[in-house]
Amino acid sequence: MTTIKKQPENLPKHIAIIMDGNGRWAKKQGLIRTFGHQKGSSSVREAITACIELGIPYLTLYAFSTENWNRPKFEIDMLMRLLLKSLDEELEALKEHQIRLNIIGNIEDLPIQIQSRLNQAIELTKDYTKLTLTLAISYSSKQELVKSMIEIGQRIKNNVISPNDITEDLVDQFLYTKDLPDVDLLIRTSGEQRISNFLLWQIAYAELYFMQVLWPDFKAQDLYQAIENYQQRERRFGKTSEQLNSK
Ligand code: FPP
Repeated sequence: MTTIKKQPENLPKHIAIIMDGNGRWAKKQGLIRTFGHQKGSSSVREAITACIELGIPYLTLYAFSTENWNRPKFEIDMLMRLLLKSLDEELEALKEHQIRLNIIGNIEDLPIQIQSRLNQAIELTKDYTKLTLTLAISYSSKQELVKSMIEIGQRIKNNVISPNDITEDLVDQFLYTKDLPDVDLLIRTSGEQRISNFLLWQIAYAELYFMQVLWPDFKAQDLYQAIENYQQRERRFGKTSEQLNSK
């Protein structure tokens, strides 16, 4: 924490986390997987609180991928119940801490009751700016890019734009993340080192940080450690070290 505070100008503005290892955590304790998800929701709280304390304005959490629909029905049902329960229990806390809730993914795939609760929470928190908390639910980065391409294709077909008008900014405009800055720091817990179809476009220049800790054991201290590591890196965005230092 102390070293982080020494470099407040060098804090990541947008942190994204792949919360992995709930199942393994539960197995280690001799419990069924769903207990890992339950415990994992306290780590969600821990990460949000730490971001608020540090003044990090954007936190994006990978809660459920489109591929996760292939999990056993019992586990999916339990994850949906947990989401609903967290929404009910945490709505006041979102308001109290001025957190804007944002969702990316195919929200229409979710049970209707969850869709309406999510929309309600999004509406009630839409003007808050302290922290934008984005939950990726039923999310696939490849599908998100395909959707953007379809939107652009339709505009070309209707002669609204020509292929030469396609720019990075235009592609951005049709992504779920159009209102979010690119990711600065991507963290994945549990020791796995892959991206799993998460924010492929938005992490083009993110720093990647893989940690051994299983998500249910994740504490503020783990976030500080990732940020301290981030602050020691030189982000060159394709330039040379000399170019950066001559500024
Ligand atoms: C990955 O661990 C985790 C998930 C697929 C679900 C994440 C959900 C939570 C942390 C619950 C609370 C979230 C909210 C937003 C209320 P895994 O099951 O793949 O673990 P494993 O790799 O060890 O099997």
